[in-house]
Amino acid sequence: MSDFVRICSQSELPAVGEVREFLVGSRAFCVANVAGNIAVLDGVCPHEGGPLGEGIIEEGRVVCPWHGYCFDVHSGVSQQDPDVRAEVFATTVENGELRAKI
Ligand code: FES
Repeated sequence: MSDFVRICSQSELPAVGEVREFLVGSRAFCVANVAGNIAVLDGVCPHEGGPLGEGIIEEGRVVCPWHGYCFDVHSGVSQQDPDVRAEVFATTVENGELRAKI
């Protein structure tokens, strides 16, 4: 049994250079499209709980709208403090759906 869960349909994915928030149950996820590559991060910023899925992408990183911490979409590490790290999930696209291993 797979532990990949559906995040959204492929047609709902953010455009290149954009970020969108999706809820799975009550849990928020941040889906980022960095130069055509889709990344899924925890939607709750590890700094002080801001909505990462409402952020923007700058220089290939997701920028939190609250205090501007910038997160690498591969490692989740913030540029401002290496101890502040967002969870990054493995993803797959199957049958027209984005799934993440959570
Ligand atoms: S809550 Fe995200 S940068 Fe502070």
